[in-house]
Amino acid sequence: MSSVKAMAKDHLSAIKAAEDDAALEDIRVSLLGKKGTISELMKTLGKMSPEERQEKGPLYNGLRSAVADAIAARKQDFHEAALDARLVSEKIDVTLPVRPQGQGTIHPITQVTDEITAIFADMGFAVAEGPDIETDYYNFTALNFPEGHPAREMHDTFYMTPDEAGARKVLRTHTSPVQIRTLQAQKPPVRVIIPGRTYRCDSDQTHTPMFHQVEGLAIDKSTTMGELKWTLEQFCKAFFEVEQVQMRFRPSFFPFTEPSMEVDIRCDRSGGELKIGQGDDWMEILGCGMVHPNVLRNVDLDPDVYQGWAFGMGIDRLAMLKYGIPDLRDFFAADLRWLRHYGFAALEMPNLATGLSR
Ligand code: PHE
Repeated sequence: MSSVKAMAKDHLSAIKAAEDDAALEDIRVSLLGKKGTISELMKTLGKMSPEERQEKGPLYNGLRSAVADAIAARKQDFHEAALDARLVSEKIDVTLPVRPQGQGTIHPITQVTDEITAIFADMGFAVAEGPDIETDYYNFTALNFPEGHPAREMHDTFYMTPDEAGARKVLRTHTSPVQIRTLQAQKPPVRVIIPGRTYRCDSDQTHTPMFHQVEGLAIDKSTTMGELKWTLEQFCKAFFEVEQVQMRFRPSFFPFTEPSMEVDIRCDRSGGELKIGQGDDWMEILGCGMVHPNVLRNVDLDPDVYQGWAFGMGIDRLAMLKYGIPDLRDFFAADLRWLRHYGFAALEMPNLATGLSR
């Protein structure tokens, strides 16, 4: 017994004395590796008599886990020290003057978000926001997704590790949870747009695991579907800076709207380019509908008094269509050449008076 204790003491002090990752790794291999001292010791258990094994087993196991824990702790020390050093060396002075013109550009997503905000602000909409990490309640339940309903599976949700109570938070799969947060915080009439990041486990030419939506919500005593359609059409004409846009409204399903529609915009994808307003293709850009009475009930509004409409648009797809960007994944590749080509001048805010995109 004393020899195991002595071994533990030696090993632990060697681990403490290790000065870097490489030294620590050498110790790990020499002790816990396939041919390591402790691994060899563990093997001797197999040849012992049951009585002896009963006595030595716990000792050897204890030694092995004490050593493994100490190595992990030392690793963590190195990690923290490296982080501290990095934080010190990477300090930046935010009061420094901006770099000479022509260096940095505004990302098309930021540009398009600003354009959308300018158009809706002109129509009397305020901007609301909510957290990216949501509870199941806001992302689903309050929006009339019943527990275990297959509509939850429509969203390829990223779930966080459950907390002690077993509740799993999610990366919001849409901006719709902010409808609930907004209606809990303010009384109708409500007219807001909600731009933000959203997340779904999906990736191809028109899907990325993180993408952007802008939600629209209007609640009042007399809101109609005609208003919704008109608003979306006005928006599209202003956004695409054209007299006419071809939109297609298709009946659809969302748990939080009834009736529900999806809207596509006519586009052309031939020749590896993306053009709006012509061609034989359609790109889905938004979902919308009249707010479901259950959603109103969930925020203590009487559906016999209040009604409203809502929409959720894909910002990235609007940017692709407007600026002819064929692959969504390029938005997030951080390629400077791409950014210089598709980026916008830094100090020109989009506005309706002088034009959205110059
Ligand atoms: N949240 C829906 C989606 O992400 C879009 C939507 C928003 C539909 C508001 C109707 C009303 O698919």
